[in-house]
Amino acid sequence: MSLSPPPVSDQPVLKLSNVESAYGPIKAIRGVSLQVRRGEIATVLGSNGAGKTTILKTISGIIDPRKGSIEFKGEAITARDPAHIVQQGLSHVPEGREVFPLLSVRDNLLMGAYTRRDRDGVAHDMEAVYSYFPILRERAEQDAGLLSGGQQQMLAISRAIMASPDLILLDEPSLGLSPKLTREIFEIVVRINRERGTTILLVEQNANMALNASDYGYVLENGRIVMEDTCARLREKDDIKEFYLGMKEAGVRGERRWKKKKNWR
Ligand SMILES: Nc1ncnc2c1ncn2[C@@H]1O[C@H](COP(=O)(O)OP(=O)(O)OP(=O)(O)O)[C@@H](O)[C@H]1O
Ligand SMILES: [Mg+2]
Repeated sequence: MSLSPPPVSDQPVLKLSNVESAYGPIKAIRGVSLQVRRGEIATVLGSNGAGKTTILKTISGIIDPRKGSIEFKGEAITARDPAHIVQQGLSHVPEGREVFPLLSVRDNLLMGAYTRRDRDGVAHDMEAVYSYFPILRERAEQDAGLLSGGQQQMLAISRAIMASPDLILLDEPSLGLSPKLTREIFEIVVRINRERGTTILLVEQNANMALNASDYGYVLENGRIVMEDTCARLREKDDIKEFYLGMKEAGVRGERRWKKKKNWR
């Protein structure tokens, strides 16, 4: 991943302040505050059920938060309609990809661009995604439901690019993919950031991939942010090495609870 990063501005493009979201009586995220600066890749790491997906759904308006506020490009988007938030330039690639299975690959891509009026720009971006993922060009006329899981992940990311967003929310792109395919997808995610300047917020259980690809990271446990730092520094922390990078005792996935063991501030 040798491409140089785009200039990262100090101005946050996305800002969450004390956000709390719940499903009925279950508080899924509690007092989450985080920022994503323009031009960077930020990541939220956490194990099963930590609340990663809930954070992304709350940002994109699928879930209304109980408390707190969310700003995107300086505008309050808290609990706004998802369609409005998309139009402001925020695209969400959901967990489990969710492509339209009965539409062709090409039509899935065009669905991503449905609010755009710049035909030349759309054609240009179509070429760009085909260059990132050549298999999508080969399969352009095929139903998306026939693609493999990895190819569907490529399509879901590409559909987000077709909206030409300022910010892409990416929910566990590694889910269900082989290590090799995960590496390939992450390389493209970094290229999208470097070449297009698109800001990215990525949530992952795969700490190794996420910390290598990202600039700044947050660690989420039981719905709370328990640590944040540059990814370069997070990679060096013993707790991260031990509990997330599996460099000591790995434990059962999703059952690591470093907080019980360590006081790491
Ligand atoms: N629709 C729902 N109804 C009730 N509880 C839910 C719902 N969705 C999530 N939860 C609960 O909210 C908490 C956070 O879930 P969330 O899906 O945000 O976690 P996650 O970090 O994305 O996990 P994973 O890595 O498994 O995707 C969990 O305790 C989960 O059981
Ligand atoms: Mg999730």
